[in-house]
Amino acid sequence: MSRDLHAEPTLDTRVIQGDILPGLVKREELLLFFRIEDPTLFVPFVQGLPLTTAAEVLEQRAEIARRRAAGIEDLLPTPGLNVAFTYAGLTALGVDGLDDAPELAEFRAGMAGRTDVLSDPPAADWPVLGPTAPVDGVFVLTGATRAEIDDTVALHLAPVGSGGWSLVHEEAGSVRPEPVHGHEHFGYADGVSQPGVRGRTPGGDPLTASADPVNDPDHGGPGQRLLWPGEFVFGYPGQNPAGPKVSTRGPVSRPPVPMMRNGAFLVFRRLSQRVPEFDLAVKALAVTASTADNPVSATLMGAQLVGRWKSGAPLVMSPTADNPTLAEGSGQENAFTFAKDRDGTLCPYAAHVRKTYPRDDTPFDEDPEPTAETVELAEARTQSHRMMRRGISFGPELTHAEALSGTSDPAQARGLLFACYVTSIADQFEFVQQSWADNPSFAHPGSGVDPVIGQSADPTTPFRGAAPVTLDPGDRPELAVSHFVTMEGGEYFFAPSVRAVRAL
Ligand code: HEM
Repeated sequence: MSRDLHAEPTLDTRVIQGDILPGLVKREELLLFFRIEDPTLFVPFVQGLPLTTAAEVLEQRAEIARRRAAGIEDLLPTPGLNVAFTYAGLTALGVDGLDDAPELAEFRAGMAGRTDVLSDPPAADWPVLGPTAPVDGVFVLTGATRAEIDDTVALHLAPVGSGGWSLVHEEAGSVRPEPVHGHEHFGYADGVSQPGVRGRTPGGDPLTASADPVNDPDHGGPGQRLLWPGEFVFGYPGQNPAGPKVSTRGPVSRPPVPMMRNGAFLVFRRLSQRVPEFDLAVKALAVTASTADNPVSATLMGAQLVGRWKSGAPLVMSPTADNPTLAEGSGQENAFTFAKDRDGTLCPYAAHVRKTYPRDDTPFDEDPEPTAETVELAEARTQSHRMMRRGISFGPELTHAEALSGTSDPAQARGLLFACYVTSIADQFEFVQQSWADNPSFAHPGSGVDPVIGQSADPTTPFRGAAPVTLDPGDRPELAVSHFVTMEGGEYFFAPSVRAVRAL
């Protein structure tokens, strides 16, 4: 089928903040959570900030690609500065209509008001943010080095107070060092799978190059679905405008209030990770899961919890051993569905990546004899729950003392500063956490809770492992996995367009 790509929307990349679609280029990140003390000082201050746009990020990325092609691998300075506001912040800035729009219910409630939906710990107990430390917004600062970020702070934000704001809390994140560059603290490659975005930049180039733009405009890299930009930024077609209508956002993600055009919600969560405890538990689970016919190593057990090997290679494509030719960066890391694993013998149903993006998994439990139409509907439903993830690790590398004792040192707190951009907090982030990750029977009854991020009141959660060697669905082991990730605080923000900031 051929489709006129020129019918695609042109993205206003010169006003969309850079972290939303292409993602600020970063090795280091600083999040400064602030309160607006004096709006009359704050408004001119924020209007004068050189907020990094999507167009600028695309230029930075193109320059990095040019230098790589020329064999230059050194760090290119990539300073980035974005801003986002809570409901209280936008209210303090006098934005109209926020109280009337029904689509803003979750944003108004804030993350602390959604603990029941998310099975989060009580907000009053959160160590960061939450009701005891309310904030109006966050400055997102990124760079190739911490020194670069410090420069941006010195040049544009300091001294705190002169711009009518005060600092409430800060979080610093870093991409982990070689050889685990880009891996999260449990050791698995992160940021491997992202939705691609259709649409053109003002220069005429597609934002995400399609592998075959004429014959297959819905796909980017192998296995990567290209979604319409309204899923991630307000004011554009969302879902497939010609496909089934399953999104609450309708065919175009209309901004709930006019100033939200070209902006997106930013979901932030500080998630601590107990790494030595996770490593010990993985070893113990491997022993429990092993039988003579189905030996399970600790490495395989870990991959079963995540759904990928540490290299990023998909478990379903390589179910017994890691395979570097399928690893992150191979181009094949997303070239899979779960079609050949309907009974979960290769990759557990509850593995983190299968839970958080079940790909083609959804129709078959509800619909034992799927037709092309029901498959299309299920696929459209799945795609309406994607998110643009922008997390980064925080905290030091594991110490030898911690590894040897199997216990996290509280002085060495580490984890993930989870962040994602969406146009529906309820349908995207909250849905994935609540209806998929925390749901022990999602897609397949008794499949278990996501062993990485699932939250429940029980100290351990059921998890049905895989049985790749015997390939007998009946042999899949029943396991109980403890929680090694703790939600420590978070908030819902809105990242307006640069134009909307200038018009405050
Ligand atoms: C993928 C780890 C929190 C949603 C992944 C991957 C890893 C990972 C290793 C596979 C690599 C990739 O595709 O990028 C973690 C850890 C977390 C965490 C250690 C907490 C400490 C979350 C949260 C959510 C989430 C809170 C959302 C509610 C996703 C999604 C994917 C993913 C949507 C992509 C799945 C795919 O497209 O195949 N995560 N994650 N993660 N994670 Fe998480």
